[in-house]
Amino acid sequence: MKGLILSGGKGTRLYPLTYTRAKQLIPVANKPVLFRVIEAIRDAGITEIGVVIGDTGPEIKEAVGDGSQFGVEITYIPQDAPRGLGHAVKIAQDYIGAERFVMFLGDNVIQGGISALIRDFADHADWNSQIVLTAVDQPEQYGVAKLDDEGRIVRLVEKPKNPPSNLALVGIYMFDHHIFDATAQLKPSFRGELEITDAIQWLIENGYNVYPHVHQGWWIDTGAHAAMLDANSLVLEELTPEIAGQVDDTSEVDFRVTVEAGAEVINSVIRGPAIIGRNTRIVNSYIGPFTSIYHNVEVENSEIERSIVLEHSTIRDIPARIQDSLIGRHASVGINGLRPKAIKMHLGDHSHLELL
Ligand code: DAU
Repeated sequence: MKGLILSGGKGTRLYPLTYTRAKQLIPVANKPVLFRVIEAIRDAGITEIGVVIGDTGPEIKEAVGDGSQFGVEITYIPQDAPRGLGHAVKIAQDYIGAERFVMFLGDNVIQGGISALIRDFADHADWNSQIVLTAVDQPEQYGVAKLDDEGRIVRLVEKPKNPPSNLALVGIYMFDHHIFDATAQLKPSFRGELEITDAIQWLIENGYNVYPHVHQGWWIDTGAHAAMLDANSLVLEELTPEIAGQVDDTSEVDFRVTVEAGAEVINSVIRGPAIIGRNTRIVNSYIGPFTSIYHNVEVENSEIERSIVLEHSTIRDIPARIQDSLIGRHASVGINGLRPKAIKMHLGDHSHLELL
């Protein structure tokens, strides 16, 4: 079996962070989501992986390379524009050939990995496709499946105004080569994309075996800010803590905290689950639960909780607690103490600021 990761697209719902960075490279619990996807596929025993890339391709290639750092062999498949998940599969046909494959959306994080799913699909040579479903609160934001009383798929529909059920399509799909017959028939949807949901519906209508697996653990599509913070919290809860950096005697670090190599925690309190990245300094500060501070960050005289801070940023002397926040790279947040007392900002397009 081969793997296919979709890592193109624009990431507009994560602006401004994704003006300058591929959304799949934003870290949760200090590891880019895309790296987690590659590792999940590798851990299921698949080492040949195609990665569909778009405008952010150069950045993704630089981070992932040839895949050897993960023990896999990566082949890049350029997509000229984000023309839809169905289009991404279509252009991967030469790479996949006649093999069965798993497709994994590069911005999805799932609890428990995919090894059991892959085994299930490998054990059933008569299955043409297996899809993963899970119950969600707002099904209209996803592809949605309607099942009959015996649990067979009756119908799939992409982002329906009136969802026929609360079962969303999780971004993990398994196919054999018949999916290429289906993508060859696709026409652009209401949002102008070739939808993989329509291709699977075509398989069903044409008598192919498509099996649903209903996932019971958590699953997050990290495409929006709130979801990114949720994914960060869930992954942090499952991390095995490790203190590789320095924690001084006046600091209090609880047992669910990871301090990466080269990090320093000085006169501070860190409550887990939380992670402090390589060469980051936390001084006279409080880092609360569900917080990931990435590499080379400085936090001084400040409090941060349930947030993600990316590399090379500085947070200093903030009098209120920073909470539920996503702070990008090379950002600086501070107080200058000068008159006139005013708030100064250099915020990028689509930035969001909430003051007390
Ligand atoms: O996350 C699950 C949902 O993913 C499913 O429930 C939907 O049925 C499915 O259509 C998809 O919906 P999204 O609107 O969330 O997909 P998004 O545009 O966020 O793209 C998902 C990933 O695929 C993301 O990593 C970007 C990549 N992508 C997307 C498009 C449209 C590509 O590589 N090429 C593309 O043309």
